[in-house]
Amino acid sequence: MPNLRVNGAERTYDGDPSMPLLWYLRDELGLTGTKFGCGAALCGNCTVHLDGVAVRSCITQMSSVTNRAVTTIEGLHPKGEHPVQVAWRNEGVPQCGYCQTGQIMQAASLLARTPGPTDAQITEAMSGNLCRCGCYQRIHAAVRAAARGA
Ligand code: FES
Ligand code: FES
Repeated sequence: MPNLRVNGAERTYDGDPSMPLLWYLRDELGLTGTKFGCGAALCGNCTVHLDGVAVRSCITQMSSVTNRAVTTIEGLHPKGEHPVQVAWRNEGVPQCGYCQTGQIMQAASLLARTPGPTDAQITEAMSGNLCRCGCYQRIHAAVRAAARGA
């Protein structure tokens, strides 16, 4: 019997309730767009949405996603045209790309709750998403552009 939704599809999970959501997404569903970084909620690479709110899937146990909706980068928009994704392309944000899934999911969650964030709110919301390539200025600009609908 289905007991969670992932990217709009009903799923049934009856395995170890303590397994991290990240392993389920990557290893069982093959949704490898979500990345592993630190495994300890320190980098934001593994960010997905749980009922529309950004969470770190590396520390989110399967027991806490029962009867809830998970969205990964693969499900953010069917054609990759979510306003944040469009802004990301327009701003040419990524360098190596590894952190970008988490950055985009974090930004999308921010804009869903706060459509017109101030610069300070953008900085605060994105502060837990690390980028080893140092793309922070372009990330900030893209979030601002997405908020403007540009
Ligand atoms: S891998 Fe989850 S926060 Fe770093
Ligand atoms: S683009 Fe390389 S870690 Fe962020």
